[in-house]
Amino acid sequence: MSVRLKQDKPDTRNILDKTQQKVIGKPVSRPDGIAKTTGTAPYAAEYAIENCAEGVLVTAPFTRGEVTGIDASSVMDMPGVIAVIDDDRLTARPAQGTAAKAPAQPARKVGYFGQPIALVVAENFEQARDAARHLKVQYRADALSDVPLDPENAGAESQGGTRQGDLAHAMKIAAHNVDVTYRTHGHSSAAMEPHAAIAQWDGQRLTVHASLQMLKFNIAELADCLGLEEDDIRLLAPYVGGGFGSKLGISQETVAASIAAMALQRPVRVVLSRQQVLQCVMRRSETRQRLRLACDEDGRLIGFGHEARVSNLPGESFAEPVLQSSEFLYAGENRHLELELARIHRMTAGSVRAPGEAVGMPALEAAMDVLAEKADIDPVELRLRNLPEKHPASGLPFSSRKYAECLQEGARAFGWEKGGWQKGPRRPRQKKEGEWWIGTGMAGAARVHNVMEAKARVLLQPDATAVVQTDMTDIGTGSYAILRQVAAEMLGLEPEKVLVELGDTDFPRASGSGGSWGASSAGSAVFVACEDLRGRIAKLAGTSAEEISLKDGIASWHGGSLPLDQLLDGKQLEAEGHYQPGDITDDFTAAGYGAFFAEVRVNDFTGEARVNRMLGAFGFGRVLNEKTARSQCLGGITWSIGAALTEALLFDPVDGHLANCDLAEYHVPVHRDVPDLDVLMIEERDPVASPIQAKGIGELGMCGGAAAIANAIYNACGARLFEFPMTPDKVLAGLPD
Ligand code: MOS
Repeated sequence: MSVRLKQDKPDTRNILDKTQQKVIGKPVSRPDGIAKTTGTAPYAAEYAIENCAEGVLVTAPFTRGEVTGIDASSVMDMPGVIAVIDDDRLTARPAQGTAAKAPAQPARKVGYFGQPIALVVAENFEQARDAARHLKVQYRADALSDVPLDPENAGAESQGGTRQGDLAHAMKIAAHNVDVTYRTHGHSSAAMEPHAAIAQWDGQRLTVHASLQMLKFNIAELADCLGLEEDDIRLLAPYVGGGFGSKLGISQETVAASIAAMALQRPVRVVLSRQQVLQCVMRRSETRQRLRLACDEDGRLIGFGHEARVSNLPGESFAEPVLQSSEFLYAGENRHLELELARIHRMTAGSVRAPGEAVGMPALEAAMDVLAEKADIDPVELRLRNLPEKHPASGLPFSSRKYAECLQEGARAFGWEKGGWQKGPRRPRQKKEGEWWIGTGMAGAARVHNVMEAKARVLLQPDATAVVQTDMTDIGTGSYAILRQVAAEMLGLEPEKVLVELGDTDFPRASGSGGSWGASSAGSAVFVACEDLRGRIAKLAGTSAEEISLKDGIASWHGGSLPLDQLLDGKQLEAEGHYQPGDITDDFTAAGYGAFFAEVRVNDFTGEARVNRMLGAFGFGRVLNEKTARSQCLGGITWSIGAALTEALLFDPVDGHLANCDLAEYHVPVHRDVPDLDVLMIEERDPVASPIQAKGIGELGMCGGAAAIANAIYNACGARLFEFPMTPDKVLAGLPD
């Protein structure tokens, strides 16, 4: 039986605060934790499947042009080689994730260096890899002088924005203003588990173990690409070793394994090498961002400008939404926000953790620090003075906004106001220990809240245990834990009595993991199913859902009490919850907020910047699980450290190939880079956000954090930098004489 909840108005019932189990919010450990930490949780490539052949992708050794021929005979005599698959669909670009269609792509055309063009299949991996290296490919490459590679000098289109009042005039009459331009480099999702798929075709149905984030969309994309019906496909992704956006849509390994399995009538596994992951999977666009901020004597913004240029391949519609939270975070009646998209030939640009805010917020928050200095106002105070009453462009009210609380409580917990060595107005170069300058910085965080339609099935079994089934994924985020908690809370069961089964398209289709919407969307689907079950349990007891109390497997009501299994009397209850976001987002601006505080040290001789300690304070609606929520924040802050100090995709200016395509050269923060991190979660219920009053968490943790570090670098050593990441060469060049 299917029950639907369409949320058209704030859900103020606040049911999860009124139920009796009291397990919501608790730091319940992840039920998948032991399997993952002991290596027994199987990832996509790790299924032992009999007679499985191995495929290795061959990639284009040129930047733009056309494949004119693939000479299979050049490798067919090599040991173990089974086939060379040169299907047109192999050159397809990865899908962006929420479209039901595979991306259209002119057959055989190559648009970036390293684009997959063929698959070599052999009996074992080494044979396939060897043959892939020897495959002869004929192609016609365009002269590099004709291929736009530099986003600054390429043709671009405006993606729109906001224009209100007269920003130029506001800049002129302002008591203080800043006009600064920042640059950020591209980022890679760099998930631990490389992209991988094993496809099996039984003549009727295709079964694919894959590493994907959003199965509901992925099955549609794959069906579209292969010309199959969704019912002819089963996608399985119960464990995913990170995605961060790179697995939102199907990519080449899934397509290639599927085509090969169907052609060869035999299971085929395709795993991208780490180099291929960096070369073919979606990148975050580099950005150029101009910030213009104008304020009066008291630091109140009268003008706000944020213009950004990002890039993508010709024909791609995704444009890194850099201005997403700049649209509503701060006041200023004269506004000019505009995004433009340059067309260049690098791999597809798409979603990488916190698309937009991850790079837009650091630039904005670094510029706010420049303004705070000019206006001689504490940076925390400057932000507090500029909270708009409503969305400055649309006029919509904010749903629930804990930005001020995050700033204030974060500052208190970090010891910002004490400052220790730094009372009064903030000045750089105040503290030095040996050759290290030491300083502090802060920044705000904001990210739009998203929800998606989601379905989940909940079975309450005669023995008073429950099973939750949905195609929702757990990409390392804690879905297994929080869905277990929602069901346990609603049904009054100990969490161990709830089994959660995920990552199978034969289950009801949920939202998948993307845009930080997983917990609130899939959680709401489980909530809706359980609400129905609660009502049916109450009916068995002859009472109403409002009157019944469910705790530890015992149902109690006015005048009675019975263990749930006795009440069920051999029956199994089943409900499918269907959560549908309504028009509520047309009425409110819903977002998560936060504030970062960092202390860094900067070496006077080498320019090396290191984070000493960092704190993030966040308000993102109801916390469903204190442990998994905190871990998401820690992960986000770690991304902030990478964005501030080390992470950059570096492209060869001559032919556009990615020069640093492994984890030795693309520097994600490692243990030695990450100091003690503190997380403060501000209590909040947002009835607009979802029926469970939760908002997105995952991505907020890196929306602005890099600016706290940049601002601390300035405070420490006086180097005011305008390019992320702030590597030692840039810091040295920026040090005052
Ligand atoms: Mo996220 S970048 O939508 O996985």
